[in-house]
Amino acid sequence: MRKIRDSRYPSETKSANENSTLTDRLGRGMHDLRISVTDVCSFRCSYCMPDDLYGGGNPFLSQESLLRFDEIEAVARVAVLLGVRKFKITGGEPLLRPELHKLIRLLKSIPKVKDIGIITNGFHLIPQLKYLRDSGLTRITVSLDSLQPEVFERITGRSEALPAVLEGIRAAQSAGFSPLKVNMVIQRGLNSGEVLEMAAYFRGSGIVLRFIEYMDVGYRHRFNRGLLVPNAEIRDIIQSQWPLEQVVPGYYGEVAARYRYIDGSGEIGFISSMTQPFCRDCTRLRLSADGKLYRCLFSSLALDMKTLLRDSDGSTNINNAGIEASMRRFWGLRDDRYSELRSTGADGDADKQIITQKEPDEKKIEMYRMGG
Ligand code: GTP
Ligand code: 5AD
Ligand code: SF4
Ligand code: SF4
Repeated sequence: MRKIRDSRYPSETKSANENSTLTDRLGRGMHDLRISVTDVCSFRCSYCMPDDLYGGGNPFLSQESLLRFDEIEAVARVAVLLGVRKFKITGGEPLLRPELHKLIRLLKSIPKVKDIGIITNGFHLIPQLKYLRDSGLTRITVSLDSLQPEVFERITGRSEALPAVLEGIRAAQSAGFSPLKVNMVIQRGLNSGEVLEMAAYFRGSGIVLRFIEYMDVGYRHRFNRGLLVPNAEIRDIIQSQWPLEQVVPGYYGEVAARYRYIDGSGEIGFISSMTQPFCRDCTRLRLSADGKLYRCLFSSLALDMKTLLRDSDGSTNINNAGIEASMRRFWGLRDDRYSELRSTGADGDADKQIITQKEPDEKKIEMYRMGG
């Protein structure tokens, strides 16, 4: 398969360490900060917060425990000092955080930042698009797992939301967000039969559809390995209908393997954390809505930043030097590579190794807590 360079996505970093003043124990720089702004969501995706567990009364973070925007900005500024050039705002559902555009404006004011994106379920987009555009948000990614109302409902727990999500995607594209991406998590027997339909829907639209392997992230949704469909299988299905060619990564550490349709109908991507882990190039740090830093999606080990952002009476009091020193130490000690270890440990050996050394599985932090 031919690899070609795509000039629309200039290579912004030649190595993981170009901007970083520090590297972790595996030589990886810090390049992305993924910022969760809330742990609540209007959907109940089966692989994230299934309705039977989160339908009613599950305790979410209190209002007071959420970082304020100036506190998030303070952490983000230090992250930029240490090499970060890209922010991704996540949740839960980030558009449920009131006045999110004000945070984006603050993040936009930080020099050297090249990209501020958001990952959303798409349901709340339309009323906020103008504010998001004006605030300087550069990119939007929408999660969409099915075009069939009944399948959409089985996955998200929401029966009526699909038309609004599709309209949100169209409106975001009209508002000029580009490249607009759509993430589809594939689960065997649930939406795996919809691959071609989904590809056909987005082919030629300018929207980049990405197939995400269902992952064992978090604990409470009860990962079922039988539902995993390797992305190689999905790529073969698409390829048999519409030939593809590979596109070289747009930047160092890009999560998705990118392909384009040879007939010129656009691009698609594959995020294969289960079958082709990308830990070696992982330059992502995560900040949870309540102010904890995580070095890996699968880690329960967190660095609590709140003590460096607030006094004991709850008022904001930012200790920049303390934040920098803690973050340097935290990143410098990083050796996380959960997905790689999982896949080398012939069916679970590595899993066990990680679990016994670091955390019992029950404590794996939930994705909606730390931000996908
Ligand atoms: P852009 O390049 O900024 O468009 O985004 P991205 O390719 O980083 O992807 P996005 O932010 O849309 O994340 C897509 C999905 O990839 C997430 O929801 C996760 O499921 C998965 N993902 C992202 N980062 C990681 C990671 O560090 N580890 C693992 N295992 N999965 C990840
Ligand atoms: N497996 C794969 N992707 C997941 N996401 C959340 N939970 C999982 C999981 N178990 C991703 C989805 C969602 C994004 C916020 O996180 O793509 O769109
Ligand atoms: Fe909400 Fe995203 Fe989790 Fe679905 S995957 S429940 S949209 S946070
Ligand atoms: Fe990064 Fe951890 Fe994902 Fe590996 S498993 S890519 S180290 S977040």
